[in-house]
Amino acid sequence: MTIHIGAAPGDIAETVLMPGDPYRAKWAAETFLEEPRCINEVRGMLGFTGRWRGHAVTIQGSGMGMPSLSIYANELIRDYGARTLIRIGSCGAMQDHVNLRDVIVAMTASSLSTPSRGMFREVNYAPCADWDLLKAAVAAAEARGTPVHAGGIYSADVFYDERPDLNEQMTRHGILAVEMEAAELYTLAARYGCRALAVLTVSDHLNSGAALPPQDRESSFGDMVEVALEAAFAEQADQG
Ligand code: HPA
Repeated sequence: MTIHIGAAPGDIAETVLMPGDPYRAKWAAETFLEEPRCINEVRGMLGFTGRWRGHAVTIQGSGMGMPSLSIYANELIRDYGARTLIRIGSCGAMQDHVNLRDVIVAMTASSLSTPSRGMFREVNYAPCADWDLLKAAVAAAEARGTPVHAGGIYSADVFYDERPDLNEQMTRHGILAVEMEAAELYTLAARYGCRALAVLTVSDHLNSGAALPPQDRESSFGDMVEVALEAAFAEQADQG
């Protein structure tokens, strides 16, 4: 067990899906995994391990924002040996051609700052996704007929944003959507030689103000979970 994760050694799979919301971790584990069992309840940040098509998978909540995600991702990688980490979460669309319920796979994650910012000093590091995961996620979404966009996203530090000009610049530079975690996940994965990807569902639209009704959220989020699982194990499937 670590400071923030109560799981025993060996309780966590090499492949970890990370929703921000611990209750979404519970829902995804109970919906998509065989024999899910709860492996973490510390601070209510629920985590579950089970199997998907025979592969061991952990679904662990990350909390909201990069400082919270950084705690869980560090401990998952450094103490439990996680090697493939896929964020599953919601995002706010920033382009008119992106619609509610669409899936976004983030090639890059721009930010004003991340928890790693102090370490990089003058370097403006560009966090990017694992190419094999990204390719496999796009293929999985297309095969399911799920509308999917691959491109840059923005990992913000605040949900209640007082700088509308920043969002304008992001939109102007083609950023597809805003969320609050991926840039640090990509940075940590790169630091420790792991694979990372963010697969996101558009839950709201910054340009129009539209938002998914609560009853539509579950089914839309289900597509994203399956895309993430298929991407995680695409190589094994290729190998037969
Ligand atoms: N901002 C930040 N994170 C988000 C948003 C948003 O508008 N929507 C979903 N996650």
